[in-house]
Amino acid sequence: MTPATAPGRSAIGARVEISGLTKEYRLGGVTLQVLSDVELSLAPGDMVSVVGASGVGKSTFLQILGTLDLPSRGSIRFDGEELTTMTPERLAVFRNRKIGFVFQFHHLLPEFTALENVMMPALIQRIPKATARRMAGDILGRVGLSKRLTHKPSQLSGVEQQRVALARAMVLEPALLLADENWWPAR
Ligand SMILES: Nc1ncnc2c1ncn2[C@@H]1O[C@H](COP(=O)(O)OP(=O)(O)OP(=O)(O)O)[C@@H](O)[C@H]1O
Ligand SMILES: [Mg+2]
Repeated sequence: MTPATAPGRSAIGARVEISGLTKEYRLGGVTLQVLSDVELSLAPGDMVSVVGASGVGKSTFLQILGTLDLPSRGSIRFDGEELTTMTPERLAVFRNRKIGFVFQFHHLLPEFTALENVMMPALIQRIPKATARRMAGDILGRVGLSKRLTHKPSQLSGVEQQRVALARAMVLEPALLLADENWWPAR
């Protein structure tokens, strides 16, 4: 797995220091080492791609960095704050405020419209409904979906679903946007 710093820089940002990050899975008495002493420093505004073969641990790494899973060992400091020892309650607030996550498979809520899916992080943050609706409409417009606001995921194309997932990840302008592969059209 190779982190490669890309030339582009974005307006969003956080200082992230990853050190000794290790993830092992134990299955039937066998230990599978997926991440082994990963070291990575990100400065605010950095854009980094993580490249590697299927099964090498890219999604595992992003899930841990996105605080959706815990490492077996190691440290992640986010603007100086250690994430791996935060309580689940603080972590839930931190994740909602600071992190946008585009999953490898979009994980949209099927019974809600595109607009409602994108409003969800704002409503969790107790932003008033009218404001959340405006924020979600704006960001859906930026990904080219202003004419699909009332469509449910099953009524959208595959890449449109991924664009809704991207809008949902960006609606609160997160300090760190994590995007797993397969989320953007190859063509
Ligand atoms: N819960 C689990 N228990 C045991 N092994 C797991 C678990 N989750 C993932 N793995 C294994 O860890 C390895 C890394 O998985 P991961 O999903 O991070 O790979 P990836 O690099 O994202 O691959 P892809 O490019 O195919 O998406 C895989 O070999 C997978 O089988
Ligand atoms: Mg993956």
